[in-house]
Amino acid sequence: ALLLQFFSSSATIRKLAEPSVNDGLESAGRKHIVLISQERDNPFWLAIAEGARAAAESLGMELEYTGPLRINQGEQTQLLKKAIAAKADAILIQGLGDSSSYKEWIDRANKRHIPIIAIDTDEPGSQRIAYVGTDNFKAGRQMGELVAARTTEEGLIGVLLGNEQAANQQLRLAGLQAALKGQPRLRIAEVRSSNISRLEAQQQTEDLLASQPNIRILVGFSALDGAGMMEAASRLGRGDIQIFAFDDLDITMEGIRGGRIEASIVQQPRKMGAQAIELLSNHWQGEPISQEQFTDTFVLDADALTAGSPAEERLNR
Ligand code: GAL
Repeated sequence: ALLLQFFSSSATIRKLAEPSVNDGLESAGRKHIVLISQERDNPFWLAIAEGARAAAESLGMELEYTGPLRINQGEQTQLLKKAIAAKADAILIQGLGDSSSYKEWIDRANKRHIPIIAIDTDEPGSQRIAYVGTDNFKAGRQMGELVAARTTEEGLIGVLLGNEQAANQQLRLAGLQAALKGQPRLRIAEVRSSNISRLEAQQQTEDLLASQPNIRILVGFSALDGAGMMEAASRLGRGDIQIFAFDDLDITMEGIRGGRIEASIVQQPRKMGAQAIELLSNHWQGEPISQEQFTDTFVLDADALTAGSPAEERLNR
């Protein structure tokens, strides 16, 4: 038995000491994971990276964070190809919707035994091993229910999407539309895109309100839209507009505290990052993993921001 023990432990040692397929990437046998964001400096994606990095460190893995400087789906595909060529141990990506070449690269990675996890937005129909993030249709419906509950009169709604092509934004919009079906007094007047830029969110909103002054409700579906909509409304002196935002960036919370933003649907980016890494660890230990791991969303309003409230404890700080 002793001899057997010797062989099995030396086999383990040999296995670890073997030249790794990840030469240049993997140091001292640590798994090297690449996280490709939608946009490198975006605060929402930085929160995902923070969660992923903390979990990676506690599990003895390394996290490399990358992404296009400005939102650019072509570049996301290039970065995926690059991470596959560099033989990363695993890659976390944002699903892009209907880009077939992106799916092909995900499937190629899978063939090369590089597990891919979709984070924030799923890539259905690809061979990603799992999706970790918000149930985006459900979150859109939650937004619709929130708008219906917080408004009393007839209202025209202006909607901002982070990006028209992004599947998570399309799903949120579909969820909103589904919730509004039962609310004939509420109608979507127009849908525009902020290109996940706070400045563009502001410009699009000013433009929208100039062309459709009857809009009384604004809904933003990506993290920086709330701030842009709030700035536009105050520049135009439109204190009568009710703003519904997404996520809990500091500026959005300030807006809620100051009564300029009615409420926000909050996602859990840090948790998404951490959960994706834990899932990889389970996968490598041969444990079965579920293909869809939804992180919760919740409503944040001025009451929920009161210290000690359950929502306050769940904020992404
Ligand atoms: C989030 C969304 C992300 C990203 C971000 C941009 O709401 O889930 O996909 O678009 O906003 O600020």
